Amino acid sequence: TVCRTIDDLKQKLQQLRWANAALTVGFVPTMGYLHEGHASLLRRSKRENDITVLSIFVNPLQFGPGEDLDRYPRDEQRDLLIAAEVGADLVFMPSVQEMYPVKPQTTVLVSGVTERLCGASRPGHFDGVGTVVSKLFNIVQPRRAYFGMKDAQQVAVITTMVNDLNMPIEIVPCPTVREADGLALSSRNKYLSPEERSQALILSATLRQAREWMRKPDLTVQELTSRIHASIASAPMAVIDYAEVLYYPSLEQPDGEQLLSGLEQPLIVALAVKFGATRLIDNMIMNPA
Ligand code: PAJ
Repeated sequence: TVCRTIDDLKQKLQQLRWANAALTVGFVPTMGYLHEGHASLLRRSKRENDITVLSIFVNPLQFGPGEDLDRYPRDEQRDLLIAAEVGADLVFMPSVQEMYPVKPQTTVLVSGVTERLCGASRPGHFDGVGTVVSKLFNIVQPRRAYFGMKDAQQVAVITTMVNDLNMPIEIVPCPTVREADGLALSSRNKYLSPEERSQALILSATLRQAREWMRKPDLTVQELTSRIHASIASAPMAVIDYAEVLYYPSLEQPDGEQLLSGLEQPLIVALAVKFGATRLIDNMIMNPA
């Protein structure tokens, strides 16, 4: 069932809850152009909840000036086919006018975990994410919400927001789904030319390499970071936005002189790299040995 207005979605949810007040609702927020990564979140939600709500909304608030809001890929018919195939019970597809009838005067701003990575390279991005996800949580009122670790910083931001504001929702992080050759699935992959697509494999290849390097106890954080940069730079079309090694989920920076063997918290290797006009992100989390 497709709902295009907030009232319609609320009414459909009410009907289901009237029939059985104990029904659990799982929620998968997306910006559409669905792929197997989104589908994996939907399947997990279906396993763990009675009702699964999918939202498809390209949120203008989280795009900066000069970013790809206008050319963000959209295909409503295809998305609805995938949603039906996977078995989403309700699909919420509001217009921008429906979500933002007036310019909101309220922003949900998470500090700390937003200082680095995409928080630094896309100013205001996570304010837009925090605000729209709060609105969607209030509209859908799910028991659980599903997020991909492909956007590990987004998971940290939403988890922090839910904890800080006592939102009664369990955040469920889900593993990154990849193509057979390692490329993390992304709606933005469709922008890549064949040459860019093949050079983009340097992201997952570098993460695999980094996993090996991290097993060397005598390597420092700084040395690991340098190797990661050099590895990405071996792809001639790659323009690094960031390539950082941080603690996860705090996203604080470890001392560069620190030996990897001495670290006691999990680390994230987080990459954002441009190929032509397309900016791709990927990451890997590694627990201390
Ligand atoms: P979007 O980029 O459409 O992603 C929707 C969800 O799918 C996010 O939780 C994202 O992490 C997850 N996802 C994307 N690619 C994935 C992959 N390869 N494997 C596993 N999960 C993947 O993230 C957003 O939309 C927006 O910021 C949103 C949360 C909807 C707020 O507007």
